[in-house]
Amino acid sequence: MQAHNRTPLFDGLLKHINNHPVPFHIPGHKNGQGMEPTFRDFIGKNALSIDLINISPLDDLHHPSGMIKEAEALAADAFGADYTFFSVQGTSSPIMAMVMSVCKPGDKIIVPRNIHKSVTSALIFSGAIPIFVHPELDTRLGIAHGITPLSVEHAIQQHPDAKAVFVINPTYYGVAADLKRIVDISHQYNIPVLVDEAHGVHIHFHDQLPVSAMAAGADLAATSVHKLGGSMTQSSVLNMQGDLVKKEHVQSILSMLTTTSTSYILLASLDAARMYLKTKGHKLIENTLTLAESLRQQINQLDYLACPGDDLLGTNATYSYDPTKILISVKQLGLTGYDVEKWLREHYQIEVELSDMYNILCIITPGDNKDTIQYLFTALRALVETYQTQAYEKKVHVSAPPIPVLQMSPREAFYSDTEVIPLKEASGRVSAESIMVYPPGIPIFIPGEIISDESLRYIEANVAAGLPVQGLEDESLKTIHVIKEMQAIR
Ligand SMILES: Cc1ncc(COP(=O)(O)O)c(C=O)c1O
Repeated sequence: MQAHNRTPLFDGLLKHINNHPVPFHIPGHKNGQGMEPTFRDFIGKNALSIDLINISPLDDLHHPSGMIKEAEALAADAFGADYTFFSVQGTSSPIMAMVMSVCKPGDKIIVPRNIHKSVTSALIFSGAIPIFVHPELDTRLGIAHGITPLSVEHAIQQHPDAKAVFVINPTYYGVAADLKRIVDISHQYNIPVLVDEAHGVHIHFHDQLPVSAMAAGADLAATSVHKLGGSMTQSSVLNMQGDLVKKEHVQSILSMLTTTSTSYILLASLDAARMYLKTKGHKLIENTLTLAESLRQQINQLDYLACPGDDLLGTNATYSYDPTKILISVKQLGLTGYDVEKWLREHYQIEVELSDMYNILCIITPGDNKDTIQYLFTALRALVETYQTQAYEKKVHVSAPPIPVLQMSPREAFYSDTEVIPLKEASGRVSAESIMVYPPGIPIFIPGEIISDESLRYIEANVAAGLPVQGLEDESLKTIHVIKEMQAIR
C-alpha cells in the first residue's frame, strides 16, 4: 500500500515544470502563451503547464521505460493484473486492441450481440468473424443484460476453434453475469476471455460490488478509469494477466492504434486515479453505496417509480449487480425514460446518464453527497406529483432485434463496392453499415449481415417510439449503403 501513496508520473511532470524549462517543442501554445486568451484564462495556468507530449524527460507511452512504466506497474498492482497499459483514447482503443491481439482475418470470436460500437470497429479492423450470443432480456425492465455461462458453453461447443470469448461485465445498467464461471468454461478450452469493463473500474475496489475481470481470472480487460474511477475523460487502461495472450503483441497493437501525441494531462490523471482508488477507494465506495442505497429506498417509497436492487438477481445472466447504478423504471407513470430525461433537464437542470423506453439511469459516485442525492429525490417526487393523475402503466414491449444472417465478414463488407438505396427497399440486401439503438447500443445489423423485413420493422418501431436509432451515414434513416450485387454473366 505504501507504494500506492506515490504518483511517479504526476510527480515527474511536476518536477519537470518546476525546473522552468524553456520550451522549443510542441505544443506550440507554450504554457498557454500562444493561444486565445479567453480559453487560456478559463482553462488555467496549471492545466496548461502540464499539457505536454512525449519529450525525452517525460518517457514515452509507446515505449515506456521511466515514469510511465513505473505508473503502469503500480496500476497493474492496484488492479491485480500482470500488466496495465495506459490509454489516452478512452476504452474504445483498448477494446479494439484486445480483439486485434487475438484475432486475424477469418478467426472466430464469440461476442454478445449488445456490443459497443468499438467492437464492431474491431471486427472490421481485425477481419474476425463474430459468433453472436443473445444477451438475456429483462422483460420487466425492458433492458438487455449480459450473456450467460450456459450460452457461452454452447457457443464454444459449436465453435471450439473460436479465438476468444468477449464479455461485457458489468453492463451499462450495472448487472454482471457469473464472470468467473464464464472464464473457467473458456479456459477449459484454452480460449482467452476479453472483458469490456467500461462500466466497472471501481468494482475491483470493494467486495460488495461484482467481481472484477482480473479477480475473475479474465485474460484482458478494457477498463474505463475515466467513467467511474476519477480520471479525466478519455483516459483508460487495458489490464492483462496470464499467458494465453502475449504482452508484447498487445503492446504493439495498442501502440498502432494510439496517437503519437499522448496527452500528459490524461496520463497524469490515470496515475492519480490509481492512487485515489487504491488508497481511498474502499472507504469512498462504502460511502457511495450507503448514499445509493438510501436513495433507492426513498425512490421505492414513491408510487409509480421503481428502483430495482436485489430483485434484479436470480436469473442466469444476473449473478450480481452494482448498487451505485440507480436504474429507475418510470413505465407506471405512463412516460418514457426519454420524456423523464427531458422533464428533469427542463425543470431541475438534472442530467441523467441515460434514458431508454422505460427507464432512466443515474450514477452515484464519490462525487455525490447527501445534498445531491436529496436534490435528485426531490425532483423525482415532483415528477410523480406532476404526472400521477394521468398515470397509466406503459406495457413493456421488449424484443431484442433479430440476429441477422452473416453473409460475409464485417471487414469484407466494409471493403466491398457499395451502393445507396432507400432503407425501406433494403430487405434481402447485405448491409455495409451498422445501425443501432444507442444507448444501450444493440446493433440491429452490422456490415456483412442480410437485412430482413423483421429488422426493418424493428427500426420503424424504435423510430416511432422516439428512440435514437443511430449509425447510418444518412442520419434521416431514409437511405442505406448496401453491398453492390454482381450481375450474372450469361
Ligand atoms: C459498454 C461500453 N463499452 C465501451 C465503451 C467505450 O468507452 P470509451 O467511451 O471510453 O471509448 C462504452 C462507452 O460508452 C460503453 O458503454
